[in-house]
Amino acid sequence: MSERSERIIGVSAVVSGDGTRCVRAGLPEPAPGTPFLPGPVFAAPYHLDPWQGPAAAPDGYGRPDNPTRRLLESAIGELEGGDCRVFASGQAAITGLLLAVLRAGDTVVLPADGYFPVRAFATATLAGNGVRVLLAPTAGPYPSFDGVRLVLVETPANPGLDVVDLPALAERVHAAGALLAVDNTTATPLGQRPLDLGADLVVASGTKAMTGHSDLLLGYVATRSAELLETLTSWRAATGAIPGAFDAWLAHRSLATLDLRLARQTANAEALARLLAGRADVSGLRWPGLPDDPAYPVASRQLRRMPGVLSFDLGGAERVARFLDAASLVAAATSFGGLHTTADRRAQWGDDTAPGFVRLSCGVEDTVDLVADVTAALDATA
Ligand SMILES: Cc1ncc(COP(=O)(O)O)c(C=O)c1O
Repeated sequence: MSERSERIIGVSAVVSGDGTRCVRAGLPEPAPGTPFLPGPVFAAPYHLDPWQGPAAAPDGYGRPDNPTRRLLESAIGELEGGDCRVFASGQAAITGLLLAVLRAGDTVVLPADGYFPVRAFATATLAGNGVRVLLAPTAGPYPSFDGVRLVLVETPANPGLDVVDLPALAERVHAAGALLAVDNTTATPLGQRPLDLGADLVVASGTKAMTGHSDLLLGYVATRSAELLETLTSWRAATGAIPGAFDAWLAHRSLATLDLRLARQTANAEALARLLAGRADVSGLRWPGLPDDPAYPVASRQLRRMPGVLSFDLGGAERVARFLDAASLVAAATSFGGLHTTADRRAQWGDDTAPGFVRLSCGVEDTVDLVADVTAALDATA
């Protein structure tokens, strides 16, 4: 990775700025007459050398081998600071990690307040496979890690936005001989590099802010352990949970603007957090960048930038629907991290949140327009 950053096109010094790293991440060496980012390679089988077979070329069959996917993996790997494998979705990456690493008799600790399909998968499938599943709230307290094989945390957690002190947690997890995996979906590698903070594995949904255009699903796992990488690579080849070449290419293209998109999303989240904090008709506001948020002390030293997502309560499902009807710039939609501002009433999906709980994801609209629109929609429905 550092070797790569020194080789980067036309830049002699080590490249460290976020915008520069995003624009250059994973690009091949320049060659006259070729595009900056090569187009997607669509192939199930590739031509084989009739004499040497698959030994002659890196690509033989599309499930394990695809050059478009490899370029995306080197880009994400550079940003996370590890080796990366991409998956068909965030859920495919997380379930792949859990199934590849855990065996009957193992114990896993999962977030009690994170993305709820992970808990649902654990209770339905992992427990059925003989894995003991413990749940812990992101902000703690955590159980004893004695006898635990893997601890997976989500920080900031979706949708409640609590955070956990990663270096302190990593020390406890490693003292017990367990592995620490961090879901980095909300922060993205520009907001936080879990591998630098002591994690053994990063896992994330690239569907959200990382690719940011609400037009594809993607997941990835990154690690510095050659052994874990090999386990995950074999798992993915065996189960086939790969993204298609076009999605991988779109994701790589979108990565170039990650720094710009996050900058505007964070600025919008800060402006909305300040607006919502001052309103008596909004309760339970959470945004880790607000100095009086319970997550602020850890978030302000751990996160390189605050997320573009905030959560709050509008008192009931009916007010949320009226608010979304009244707003022109806030679309009712699940997911988060996209270019357009969206809001999701999480209880409608069976998440165990209050009926009026809203997760709002800031897009890249002009801050002044977004603040005016949300103010008007709240006023109209107060
Ligand atoms: C924190 C987190 N992890 C994982 C996932 C799953 O990702 P995907 O929807 O790409 O499968 C999500 C989806 O919302 C998420 O919010």
